[in-house]
Amino acid sequence: MGVTGGIAAYKTAELTRLLRVEGAEVRVAMTEAAMQFVGALTFQALSGNPVHTQLLDAQTEAGMGHISLARWADLILIAPASADFIARLRAGFASDLLSALCLARTCPLAIAPAMNQAMWKHPATQENVARLTDWGVQILGPAQGSLACGEEGPGRMLEPSVLLQHLAGLSGSGVLTGLSVLISAGPTREPLDPVRYLSNRSSGKMGLAIALAALRAGAKVGLVHGPIALKPPRCHEQIQVESAQEMHRAVLERAAAYDIYIGAAAVADYTPMQYSSQKIKKTDDKLSIPLSKTADILAAVAQIAPPPFTVGFAAESEDLENYARGKLQNKKLDMIAANAIGNDNTGFNSDTNALSVFWQDGSIVLPLASKTRIAEQLINLIAQRFHAKNSTQTS
Ligand code: C5P
Repeated sequence: MGVTGGIAAYKTAELTRLLRVEGAEVRVAMTEAAMQFVGALTFQALSGNPVHTQLLDAQTEAGMGHISLARWADLILIAPASADFIARLRAGFASDLLSALCLARTCPLAIAPAMNQAMWKHPATQENVARLTDWGVQILGPAQGSLACGEEGPGRMLEPSVLLQHLAGLSGSGVLTGLSVLISAGPTREPLDPVRYLSNRSSGKMGLAIALAALRAGAKVGLVHGPIALKPPRCHEQIQVESAQEMHRAVLERAAAYDIYIGAAAVADYTPMQYSSQKIKKTDDKLSIPLSKTADILAAVAQIAPPPFTVGFAAESEDLENYARGKLQNKKLDMIAANAIGNDNTGFNSDTNALSVFWQDGSIVLPLASKTRIAEQLINLIAQRFHAKNSTQTS
């Protein structure tokens, strides 16, 4: 646990206690500024371990120095993470113990920002946070509300109980260790002529969140994605495609070599029958473009002998369960994750999602949460069902 200078540090004391109750072993590193808010003795008493405060201290370096401390942790959480510390993380400083620890770590890193709302909204902080996200750092919060400085807005550190829940899903569960997962993400573009195409509103956020969750769970991840603005996490194999046909080829060339296939892409259902090599002219009042159905990638993967554990997605505007279960049967899937479209906070381009997940003899609802959290839960569920299927097949 890294504690930086902010009044929310008192909440981190409670989080330390809660983590111990859950059976975690906690070591606390504090910055100079953090110690202005809460005494090191508080954290020593609550963690049951001496608190680390100095980078270059002969006594501590002889015991547990900064590198061994970084190696010791399964997960590092910085709570509260001040604007200043976030900037230092992004810049890669190692001039104090906590920033050196973060630079030397190989384990997952999460930060729980807490600061004044204007500091949080400032483009410098936002850019820093975006960069950290690119590097795979988990950003937990901040929450909206009244701040210690008397202002209202985003900047409150998440409550200890909420942070605890996030940490449970972040500690590198390893549920997919030794397994490989192929994921398709984003939209496809169906070319009409050299300048135009048919596409959809998929941002690829859900698919990328699933790829990150699968990586965190220890899987070897392959990612096939259509045109997206977001930067994908670093995967073992990453292939960018454009059309449904290209995605079909890229996925089917590889799927047999993977243990699990998750079809999170919004693949065009229809594509123009003819591609015009010249720009289509604006001559007639009406224009009809004949379309033909694209090949169903997901169904094709499920027909491979033997198929990978195959998971589909379904975006439905009505009768969610019936349609989703219909697809589960017709496409011979192992699992389908359905989201109701038309809600403001779910589905395409949103940062949050809610899913109803169905499999042959069960179902579960994953209530509204960030796509990151939903992806973690989905990966845990897929791991459970995958192992359940394999143990019945081998017994
Ligand atoms: O049948 P529907 O298109 O609603 O099914 C959605 C699921 O099927 C998604 O997982 C999507 O990635 C997949 N799909 C596919 N190939 C298509 C169309 C959809 O793999 N041509």
